[in-house]
Amino acid sequence: MSEKREHWSGNWGFLMALAGSAIGLGNIWKFPYVTGKYGGGAFVLVYLCCIMVIGLPILIGELTIGRTTGLNPIGAFAALCPKRSKLADLLGGIILLSGIALITFSQIGYGILVMLLGAVILYGGWKAIGLISGVITPFLILGYYGVVGGWTLIYAVKAVTGNLVFKTAAEAQAAFTPIQQAAPGTWWYVIGGQLAFMTLCGIILWFGVKKGIERCSKVLMPSLFVLLIVLILRSISLPGASAGIKFFLSPDFSKLSAEAVLVALGQAFYTLSLGMGISIVYGSYVRKETNLPKSVLQLIGLDTMVAMMAGLAIFPAVFAMGFEPAAGEGLVFQILPTAFNMIPGGLGSVWSSFFFIAVSIAALTSGISLMEVIVSVLIDYFKMKRWAAVLFSWSSISILGVFCSISMNSWKNIPWMEKGLTTLFGTPPGSLFLTLDNLTANWFLPAAGMAVSVFVGWVWGVRNAVNEIRKGAGRELDTNFFILLSGMRGESGYGDSYKHIFTPASVWGFFIRFITPVSVMFVFLNMTGAIKFN
Ligand code: PFF
Repeated sequence: MSEKREHWSGNWGFLMALAGSAIGLGNIWKFPYVTGKYGGGAFVLVYLCCIMVIGLPILIGELTIGRTTGLNPIGAFAALCPKRSKLADLLGGIILLSGIALITFSQIGYGILVMLLGAVILYGGWKAIGLISGVITPFLILGYYGVVGGWTLIYAVKAVTGNLVFKTAAEAQAAFTPIQQAAPGTWWYVIGGQLAFMTLCGIILWFGVKKGIERCSKVLMPSLFVLLIVLILRSISLPGASAGIKFFLSPDFSKLSAEAVLVALGQAFYTLSLGMGISIVYGSYVRKETNLPKSVLQLIGLDTMVAMMAGLAIFPAVFAMGFEPAAGEGLVFQILPTAFNMIPGGLGSVWSSFFFIAVSIAALTSGISLMEVIVSVLIDYFKMKRWAAVLFSWSSISILGVFCSISMNSWKNIPWMEKGLTTLFGTPPGSLFLTLDNLTANWFLPAAGMAVSVFVGWVWGVRNAVNEIRKGAGRELDTNFFILLSGMRGESGYGDSYKHIFTPASVWGFFIRFITPVSVMFVFLNMTGAIKFN
């Protein structure tokens, strides 16, 4: 199997594919708003620190696990830890006991789920963790991400055909609400958008790694960049734009609360698509000559740049047109189409088209990366042909997506599911869409991130991981950090000898063993509500 595995054609193709995954709705509808809310430039600094503490170590860890084994998440964990692992047993045992405790507190539904999870980990060890993070999580995330992806496509088509003309925010809201709530008359519309999004993902994946994912990322990512630059130029040249730039970037250190730090940590984690198996799978297509740390640094640069660019395209226009900033769906689907439409000069539809094409690209390239995780498991594990694996993932995720589409903001469209869930779990929050979002973003992703860092740091071992990273990496990896940073490399007396202690490799090892898991633990506790800062 492994000798037939496809590889990225080179560093650029790999970088674009990885950027396609990382640059998604997180960059466009979350980053700009949280930056504005939590202290502008000051928040950006904290965010960059978080990227270094959590993002970079785990991302390198996941890519390394993938490259060294050349396998999907399940196979990769199994290959690197073929024997029983005490740590996995301990983890499984603790989870199982927590499940029993939950049942005794009459939380039957959650108790059964948690017990099952513990039992699966006790039985399968690290392989089970690969199954959860590499199959179940992507399946659940794509179930609801596809719905939002569908909206972005619907809005892009509407904008391009000149049908996205709103004069007031109220009008935009009136147009969006039926879509968001999947009012009975608009079902076909929302489901159609979701299916179209999933179908596009499927078609691209059908062509494979190089001809599908890589080729389309190489075209789409630079296009996204160009579209954003045009939008920024338009946006910042509007009268009154400076208020938006001020909201977005002016540093305000007084807003840097503990909560802001946790938001920055969570954002760093989400934006790099960690804990979803994506980087393990994309890593498995990387050649040994590729310099992983260098690619990761380039990726972080691109991802942060696009997030900053999105803010500069969005807020100046929002403020110049007299709107209040918001986050998420409200910002992207209500405020922005109206603001872009109101831009004088009669080109409103052009600006909205540019914007929604950009958002669709961001969503699509993230969607394909997630679907590829499942496809890779089906190909490696069940020896399916690519077309069959794509068809299988496409259809199963689409079915989940259809349920999500019709249960966007309430359960009222699927009463039997509501009844079942209420019996098991008490009142389920919001809707199927919100439940999946909450379950994955708040529980599965941070837990998987922690698992990856513990696995690399303590089970597979930093020594093995660093040996893999060394392939393709320059001598910088083992050169004294201060000598590198000071620019004194090669200077006589300093040299770039390998015999240094404080090197990028050793710092990474220290982080992945101690600092990263503890930081993710804080994100986890915060997201699940176990600790609260205010
Ligand atoms: N990095 C992505 C983002 O910022 O939107 C996270 C992501 C979400 C990736 C959903 C893939 C996906 F399907």
